[in-house]
Amino acid sequence: MRQSSLVVVANRLPVDDSVAPDGACEWRRSPGGLVGALHPILQHTPATWVGWAGDAGPAPTLPDIDGVRMHTVALSAEDIRDHYEGFANATLWPLYHDSVEHPSFHRRWWEAYHRVNQRFAAAAAEAAEPGALVWVQDYHLQLVPGMLRALRPDLLIGFFLHVPFPPPELFMQLPRRAELLLGMLGADLVGFQRVQAAHNFAQLAAKVLKVPATDRRIAVEGRVVRIGAFPVSIDMAEMEALASRPSVAARARQLRTDLGDPRRVVLSVDRMDYTKGIEHRLKAYSELIEGGHIKVHDTVLVQVAVPSRERVAQYQILRDRVEREVGRINGEFGRVGEPAIHYLNQPFDRAELAALYRVADIMAVTPLRDGMNLVAKEYIAARVDDTGALVLSEFAGAAAEFPQAYLVNPHDLDGLKLTLLHALDASPEDVTDRMRGMRAHLRVHDIRAWARAYLTALDRTGTLAARLAP
Ligand code: ADP
Ligand code: G6P
Repeated sequence: MRQSSLVVVANRLPVDDSVAPDGACEWRRSPGGLVGALHPILQHTPATWVGWAGDAGPAPTLPDIDGVRMHTVALSAEDIRDHYEGFANATLWPLYHDSVEHPSFHRRWWEAYHRVNQRFAAAAAEAAEPGALVWVQDYHLQLVPGMLRALRPDLLIGFFLHVPFPPPELFMQLPRRAELLLGMLGADLVGFQRVQAAHNFAQLAAKVLKVPATDRRIAVEGRVVRIGAFPVSIDMAEMEALASRPSVAARARQLRTDLGDPRRVVLSVDRMDYTKGIEHRLKAYSELIEGGHIKVHDTVLVQVAVPSRERVAQYQILRDRVEREVGRINGEFGRVGEPAIHYLNQPFDRAELAALYRVADIMAVTPLRDGMNLVAKEYIAARVDDTGALVLSEFAGAAAEFPQAYLVNPHDLDGLKLTLLHALDASPEDVTDRMRGMRAHLRVHDIRAWARAYLTALDRTGTLAARLAP
């Protein structure tokens, strides 16, 4: 087995399978995200990506993607049910997002989480050459750093959490809290999206493990683990280039025509997830119509909600509720050929998303809690002419970076209505001023800057970081 000096470990591989014209299954690099961020170093370093290909059963053999080796981890139907749908997405996900839905605890789920984490750690240990750098991603794999260190003490291990890390009051509910903390502390550097998350983590380490901890360093098992905030970002240049394509601009014009040439288009793009605040937003929007503040022929809302985690009960319940509410609003306020809300429960390719961003005069990103929210950043990147109003929840990680957005507390329905109206009625000068500021920030803090900042902090010898120069 060939070994690599850089190993990325994530629940999902950065690939999508699609059907080729001849009917065969074709694997392609999935757009955006982490693989784009790491592209510059992955190209110059023999790298392996350890992850799951998305289906139950034996691990498929995948071709290298852009020179990166794909090391597939197999998950059985039971692993998927108890690890991915269970402990990861019905225990940790709701708990880490302010418990906006009730987290469930089941001992069987924990056993699966432990077992699957062990499998990922073994795969990473196999793929890493002596002294390699291994970067573990996200809440599905919190035990991997500790397990990997036990297997391979020679490695430099990083862990990055893409979702929020909760305050002690919530985290303390977890039956296996000490093991989860110790698992993460197997890393040399634990990265979070926000400073507050690093603070929560340090407080918990001190409280649960009784170890010396500050917001920068935690001493554990004779080692010092560094912690810090590294807000994740997007490939701004890639989204700008896509949004600038004449074909995307033409598609945006066509979309506006198809929407009935309204004066204003409001857009939301989310995974169908209860953390995204979709129901609160729909309620606020329908009250604005009901109160006569929004006229259906003048303003339309396009709500894209891509299917997600569809076998988890809370996601099924949410989808039913959202669809009932969209039906109610359109039934009550729409006219023939003139719905109040255009609801799309489907995935789109990047060009179609870019066209949607371009057509949106107002983008409403109002999660109840979100680690970062990349959609907000994609919208900013796509607004190449400096127009477009971003309504952004204070509870998205992105809010810390964009004070120029129309910030809102999505739990406050009246506040949400007022902020939407403020953005809808803002002067073009105000909108452009704000958008310019946000674009200037994003240009500097793009995904490469994120990867460079994290890896430079992790790899203090600078060997890998040197390869990250733009
Ligand atoms: P989360 O990580 O919770 O899914 P983010 O906003 O950070 O939320 O990231 C969502 C990602 O999914 C973005 O890159 C966005 O472009 C993509 N996405 C959202 N909706 C769709 C869709 N309908 N089709 C394709 N991609 C989508
Ligand atoms: C969030 C998580 C990611 C996850 C993504 C999509 O962004 O932080 O780790 O991959 O949602 O969710 P899924 O369950 O489809 O992987």
